[in-house]
Amino acid sequence: MKNPFTPSFGSEPLVLAGRRDIIEGMRRGYENGTGDPRLNSIVVGARGTGKTALLNIIPGIAQERGWACVSVTALSGMLEDIYQRAVAQASDILNDGKGARLTGLTIGSAVGATWELPDEPEGNWRTRMYRVLDTLESQGTGLLITVDEVTSDLDEMIQFAAVYQHFVREGRSVALLMAGLPNNVSSLLSNKSASFLRRAKQYRLGRISDADMAFAIRQTVEGGGRSIEREALDLAVKASSGFPYMMQLVGFHTWESSEDGGAIDADAVARGIEVAGYDMRDGVYRSTLRDLSAKDIDFLQAMLEDEGGSRMADVARRMGVSSSYASQYRLRLIDQGVIGERGRGRVWFDIPGFDSYLREEL
Ligand SMILES: Nc1ncnc2c1ncn2[C@@H]1O[C@H](COP(=O)(O)OP(=O)(O)OP(=O)(O)O)[C@@H](O)[C@H]1O
Ligand SMILES: [Mg+2]
Repeated sequence: MKNPFTPSFGSEPLVLAGRRDIIEGMRRGYENGTGDPRLNSIVVGARGTGKTALLNIIPGIAQERGWACVSVTALSGMLEDIYQRAVAQASDILNDGKGARLTGLTIGSAVGATWELPDEPEGNWRTRMYRVLDTLESQGTGLLITVDEVTSDLDEMIQFAAVYQHFVREGRSVALLMAGLPNNVSSLLSNKSASFLRRAKQYRLGRISDADMAFAIRQTVEGGGRSIEREALDLAVKASSGFPYMMQLVGFHTWESSEDGGAIDADAVARGIEVAGYDMRDGVYRSTLRDLSAKDIDFLQAMLEDEGGSRMADVARRMGVSSSYASQYRLRLIDQGVIGERGRGRVWFDIPGFDSYLREEL
């Protein structure tokens, strides 16, 4: 039986755990159309929290509501990529009458018309995009652009933000969905030329609830044609700790280390968790640690004396700093998705197993 878990970055999970509020919000935004604040959104989260997974799913939802969609990654060439794909979408809509299906409008004479990219596209990117938007809008369709892995280090990303704001100001039918790591998003938003993006609605990908995780793990196992014992499921949920990539790793390795056929038991999950830890090290822990400042690390180190939760007062005392100084770092680390609140005045690691990794490494 084929393993139904998908522990690789960018792969679409068989069952998406949680994230209902975000998806529902976006759905309503696309339904409302131009003017809805959710049409310009940015998904922010640590590595492996499921940003790309959302960017893969949401275009389908937008398309059902009459939007054409192009998806790019913030890399050099992204502007041309957006243009070429938008042209392809526009000509599809004109040529096969897809616009009629998408919007419920009758486009009559436009069906069968052809609309092709001129041999020598004239004008700069903005001008050429206006032409595509005109065509789409004439079919009652808007354009959703998704940009994954946003960064301020790329000139084209900044240019894109600068031009995109004109589309919005001029009331064009456009929508934008971006995703990025917390540090990259904040440096992008602090760039003067991209300041328009500060108004985008931000969705922070936090931990997924245990109930949603349990549901998704069970559904994924059953989707692969097997079942999982109650105790085994509880163990897998606990180890996943609301973190999507960990959930996929635990599920995947558990599946691999159990006998085909029977129900998955707790022993198999325990073996799966162990192997998952190694993959988290390569995929998440190492790069997360690399991105932290020395002071961030001091803070985390001060937390390591605890188990399962740290009181802020203790962390500040161990760091030998004032509580207001410590809380600046608390905010920074929460922002980066490394730690999260656990009740009043307490924090703990939001990346499962990162505490054990740091105990070994520091
Ligand atoms: N809501 C979810 N439920 C279950 N699995 C998920 C969910 N979101 C993502 N995944 C899985 O988690 C893993 C990481 O997802 P994804 O690649 O989307 O993360 P990311 O935030 O884009 O990471 P990165 O910062 O490295 O780009 C993938 O294996 C994906 O299949
Ligand atoms: Mg990603």
